[in-house]
Amino acid sequence: MTELAYLNGEIMAVDRGRVSINDRSFLFGDGIYEVVRSYDGVFFGLEEHLARLARSAAAVEMELPFSEADLAALVRELREKSEIADAMVYVQVSRGVEPRRHIFDLNVKPYVLITVRHVPHIPERYWYEGVTAVTVPDVRWGMCHIKSTSLLANVMAGHRARQAGVDEAIFVREDGTVTEAYASNVFIVRDGTVLTHPANNRILGGITRRFVLDLCPGLGFSYRETTFDREEMYAADEVFLTNSVHEIRAAVEIDGRRIGTGRPGPVTRELIRAYKELTRKR
Ligand SMILES: Cc1ncc(COP(=O)(O)O)c(C=O)c1O
Repeated sequence: MTELAYLNGEIMAVDRGRVSINDRSFLFGDGIYEVVRSYDGVFFGLEEHLARLARSAAAVEMELPFSEADLAALVRELREKSEIADAMVYVQVSRGVEPRRHIFDLNVKPYVLITVRHVPHIPERYWYEGVTAVTVPDVRWGMCHIKSTSLLANVMAGHRARQAGVDEAIFVREDGTVTEAYASNVFIVRDGTVLTHPANNRILGGITRRFVLDLCPGLGFSYRETTFDREEMYAADEVFLTNSVHEIRAAVEIDGRRIGTGRPGPVTRELIRAYKELTRKR
């Protein structure tokens, strides 16, 4: 098993990839990306992730150098070469390489970087005990639905969590609305109903978020895509976070306040079980 990178048509060991100092994703964060997992050699949600990449590209007026089908084939081929069954695949498209100036040349050629790595170790306590979090001001721009490599606000939010000695940071807008965590979507459970922020320009519409909402009716849970504020989150019966790498994690303490019983609640536990079944049976 070898962690591999694909860069500008070449395949190499992951730590051998180099980019130009004129690369626009390096200089400006002028790039878009995706992160997708395989389970025992089979990708979960690859088409959905690549469709979102195409939407991000369109939103920033970038032309993808591959069709979605060709990109999917390339991602699959690279994973097979790596022989990593449980892989975390990162796909990034940079606007391209040209001398630094804000306005881009309309002829600059976007290029693709793909890395295939082992899924990082995920502590079991995340699922069985849950995670702790702090809230941070959501100071991000108004186009959070684009999965852009410009992630400074998210990076700083993660840093605040570490400084506070907790696992996660949850963004809250000036009016108190909870949007999402620095790399996850946020859900609350109130009186048996699952609530999460609408998929608009204020959040990244997570692929896991969508799969989780789609699981709800079959498990007997109603859901609503609606905003809620920090106080409603503190008072919720359960809070949980979703993303493709960590799947579903209960948030059991936020800003030092215990959420619900302080343990992953029944709705979260049932969703964790159902999502694990879904990802591993494809
Ligand atoms: C800001 C943000 N929100 C939500 C998510 C969850 O998205 P997904 O479920 O597609 O992994 C991510 C994933 O990285 C993210 O960065």
